Amino acid sequence: MGIEETSTEVILTDPNDSTTKVKVLKYGATVFSWELKGEEQLWLSSAAKLDGSKPVRGGIPLVFPVFGKNLNDEHLSKLPQHGLARNSVWEFLGQVKANPPTIQLGLGPEFANPELTKIWPFEYSLVLTIELGAEYLKTAIEVLNTSTTQNLKFNWLFHTYLKIDDIEDTLVSNLNNTLLYDQMLTESYIDRQPVISVHEELDRVYQNVDDDRIIQVIDKGHPIHTLKRENLPDAVVWNPWVEKSKGMADFEPKDGWKNMICVEPGHVHDLINLAPGDNWVASQVLYKDDLKFQSV
Ligand code: BG6
Repeated sequence: MGIEETSTEVILTDPNDSTTKVKVLKYGATVFSWELKGEEQLWLSSAAKLDGSKPVRGGIPLVFPVFGKNLNDEHLSKLPQHGLARNSVWEFLGQVKANPPTIQLGLGPEFANPELTKIWPFEYSLVLTIELGAEYLKTAIEVLNTSTTQNLKFNWLFHTYLKIDDIEDTLVSNLNNTLLYDQMLTESYIDRQPVISVHEELDRVYQNVDDDRIIQVIDKGHPIHTLKRENLPDAVVWNPWVEKSKGMADFEPKDGWKNMICVEPGHVHDLINLAPGDNWVASQVLYKDDLKFQSV
């Protein structure tokens, strides 16, 4: 109960309810399971690598310092898709609070993947705080530019894989009338549809979404996931559908796309530019709520 650490994982359990727990892999500081009252909330591929040989396919991988591939920035363009945080072993910094169980993990260039650090030689310190409430899971990030001379330019994103019953019965709400970049069409437009429904591969970056827009994932009229963001203006919505899933070796079962949708709060439409010594903080909270239709 409480907080248990092994050589590779940290497990937090609600002190009042042993059926509510979160499992975090030190590799990538990846939350790979969140059970709320005995029910798993996150999707995890049955072929996901949890041995540190590859970023985890599922849960909440962390994207830093680049979202996707950056073709323009001199330094970020050298990094692989989604950067180096999800493929580095983070340091367990310990418990912050016993109730709600709260822990921190940290990453800096001294721990990060050495190959990737060579090609992106910047000074930074990341602190991820994971708080397991009785009814919610909060993940918060602080990025500190530890350099005294150089600015730190980066993206941040929580690549949250949510578990759902059936993609064809699922809607994502409260992102309507928002400018988006459609990564399938490579075009920007305003989404005029009242809700998002998925009928083929979908890969969209909704941009500059106010923090007061509460994103919900709705299953046959019932909200099954509610997501609150702080200082994360963008939201990626992604489902790989049939063909893309076939092409990902660590995506199993092959029809697993029916049972997942990624809703990924981040700051990705442009780069955060931190002056030496400055810090930046952001968070996401996953919880349950009644239907909140914020038509705008
Ligand atoms: C999403 C991107 O965030 O991540 C998609 O919008 C991408 O374009 C997906 O395919 C998965 O990326 P990866 O690197 O984990 O296969």
